[in-house]
Amino acid sequence: MRTIWWQDQAVHLIDQTRLPHEQVIVHCHDYQAVARAIATMQIRGAPAIGAAAAYGVALGAWHAPADSASALLTQLQPVYETLRATRPTAVNLFWAIERMRRCAEQVAATTTDADQVRRQLLAEAERVAEEDIATNKRMGQYGATLIADGMNVLTHCNTGALAVVDYGTALGVIRTAWEQGKRLHVWVDETRPFLQGARLTAWELMQLGIPMTLITDNMAGHFMARGQVDAVFVGADRIAANGDVANKIGTYSLAVLAQAHGIPFYSVAPVSTLDLTLASGDQIPIEERDPREVTHIRDMPIAPAGVRAANPAFDVTPNRYITAIVTDRGIVYPPFVDGLRRIVEGAHG
Ligand code: MRU
Repeated sequence: MRTIWWQDQAVHLIDQTRLPHEQVIVHCHDYQAVARAIATMQIRGAPAIGAAAAYGVALGAWHAPADSASALLTQLQPVYETLRATRPTAVNLFWAIERMRRCAEQVAATTTDADQVRRQLLAEAERVAEEDIATNKRMGQYGATLIADGMNVLTHCNTGALAVVDYGTALGVIRTAWEQGKRLHVWVDETRPFLQGARLTAWELMQLGIPMTLITDNMAGHFMARGQVDAVFVGADRIAANGDVANKIGTYSLAVLAQAHGIPFYSVAPVSTLDLTLASGDQIPIEERDPREVTHIRDMPIAPAGVRAANPAFDVTPNRYITAIVTDRGIVYPPFVDGLRRIVEGAHG
């Protein structure tokens, strides 16, 4: 399963708002359509958003009328801005746009030919996507060492193949352990209000044949207290320099619960999710989404008409609740400030 790909001068992606009941492909013929797909969460999950932004820039360049490399650089500015304005929390979005912007400038410094810049931008987007798959598999190998045969693990949101280009981050770790022959059982948080756990993670795990049980988010403490959770694996949307982790709303409460029960709590994320420009998690912008996602399930109202509702899409888990961060460069343990810096310096030579 691949969430996003380029074909016939367009970007195609699986519409995750329709899963699990319908499998629909969205065809994006301009960068604005890619931006809409990100904002409406037809494609979601930090690394998948990054790949979508990269393909969005390539598509913007492909259809821009510029007939010189320097004119193309100018015409790419609104493309970057539109894509940047889609979702604020996952840093992979900004990382991918910046990588594409650098690529465009480097190629334009060597040629006046706009088509050469277009071709190189498409190649760069394809590299972002391919690297993502390889990165996930590496994290799977590192993270699976934390899972012993017979474990019950709990996960939140969707961090599987759908959240990336293919394979998964936290779910990729669980999947690798399963492929290694370890027997496992996964508690899947439904993940209110957008239900990524119920709709997407449950669907993926069932397809993979990995034993799982769907629970509502408020059941996690109950199963932890009964000794039925051995470890928690979640993803991340942005990790600050001190190891504070922004991830799907509800992650923080899970981490506090896990610590209260002496259960290890792991965040799994590629280096592109690290944002060492931020000293701590309180500087991470938290997306506030339409309250209708809380007051309605699909189109059905579940609260009184006109009720006030809040809808922060992410929360920040302070580093003291996190046992370790699994990256594609290895597992980082506290103190995170040193460990994360070493990982990033390694990643960039
Ligand atoms: O709002 P979403 O569905 O994009 O949020 C996704 C998450 O919070 C994931 O846990 C995170 O992106 C890591 S997934 C590889």
